[in-house]
Amino acid sequence: MDAFSKTPDSTTRPIPEPGAGSRHVQESLETRAIHGGGDPGGESGRPVTPPIVQSSTFHGGLPGDETPLAYTRYGVNPNQVAVGRKMAHLEGMEEGLVTASGMAAISLTLLALVRNGDHLVSSVHLYGATRNFMERELPRRGVEVTFVDPDNPRSWRHALRPETRGLYLEMPTNPMLRVFDPRPVSRLALERGLPLIMDATFATPMNFRAADHGVDVVVHSATKYLGGHSDLIAGVICGPAALIDEVRGLLRLYGPSADPHMAWLLDRGLRTLPVRMARHNENALALAHWFAGSEGVERVIHPFHDDHPDAEIARELLSGGGGMLGVVVEGGEAGAVAFCRALELAAVAPSLGGVETLVSLPAWTSHRTLTGAEREARGIAPGFVRISVGLEGLEDLKRDFRRGLAAVLSGH
Ligand SMILES: Cc1ncc(COP(=O)(O)O)c(C=O)c1O
Repeated sequence: MDAFSKTPDSTTRPIPEPGAGSRHVQESLETRAIHGGGDPGGESGRPVTPPIVQSSTFHGGLPGDETPLAYTRYGVNPNQVAVGRKMAHLEGMEEGLVTASGMAAISLTLLALVRNGDHLVSSVHLYGATRNFMERELPRRGVEVTFVDPDNPRSWRHALRPETRGLYLEMPTNPMLRVFDPRPVSRLALERGLPLIMDATFATPMNFRAADHGVDVVVHSATKYLGGHSDLIAGVICGPAALIDEVRGLLRLYGPSADPHMAWLLDRGLRTLPVRMARHNENALALAHWFAGSEGVERVIHPFHDDHPDAEIARELLSGGGGMLGVVVEGGEAGAVAFCRALELAAVAPSLGGVETLVSLPAWTSHRTLTGAEREARGIAPGFVRISVGLEGLEDLKRDFRRGLAAVLSGH
């Protein structure tokens, strides 16, 4: 059976609302984030918060037993199921599945779509490990990937082959926060009956409605905004039930299932996703304007900032600019290091999407394997500082970043 199949009339159908009943169909994202996928029952004495079912296995396994065999590696633990359903509700997609990391979600989704001899087309702007998986791991399994420049929408069509099984796009990208319009790609995908898969980690379902823009499958590093507290590693896949079933099959074989406690923590994080994202959006945009008017700053990278190359499409597609920000400080790499060392509130650490502000230098973290020239080609100047803007008070953040800029201006 094909893991994915669609016909050209599938866009004319309403987006399926997942789960039993229609309780959630009219509900806001705020309500879905709290109650989505849950059991509405409220008998006296039942816990309001779901319990953690910290069990690897479940009674059963004799002839005549009515329930299917349950084991936590299979992805059927109640905490895993609850968070998968909630994510499907939030994305407005048929089904959702939680995995042990974002990379598990991405790699299993791609593996579910391809066989030896198949081909994928992907945007060239990718998270490093995704790129490595496509460039090194998939070819070992006889699968080729053609990387295209999404600035040229026609490049997707030119890259198609009879054996192409899917199109892959990530946006906004790391760290330049490029935003690409998925609609032409989704029209092509529909014409060819192929799935469009999107890594929407930076946007979350709060800032980008993937299903409304023709995306068939969404993958997330839930480690970031979905969890939101820098205390878990997780991934999520949402999409058509047939594909999710196939991925669940691979989960059983490869084994990167979510621990129940992690799934519970992720569910808890999701409850505040809408309010957290609203504040991330607000704080990052305010800081983008503030940095743009500050001495010691050469350039600010934010999708809603006027000089961002994608500002127009970003404002059209995204309901918020997100919590990520790039700042190129004067003095090149030495300036960027001085800026980071002077900070007292923001922590210098990789990763993003938590309540606390984190800064990192892509040249020393996410993009360290590239040469200086390759980084320059991607717009990552030596003085580039990536900021994951948290939820702290804006004035406190400005005071901290003033310390950083003072170090830049004092020649370190
Ligand atoms: C855009 C994007 N996708 C996927 C991943 C991988 O997620 P994880 O670290 O949860 O495996 C990351 C991690 O930084 C990311 O930034």
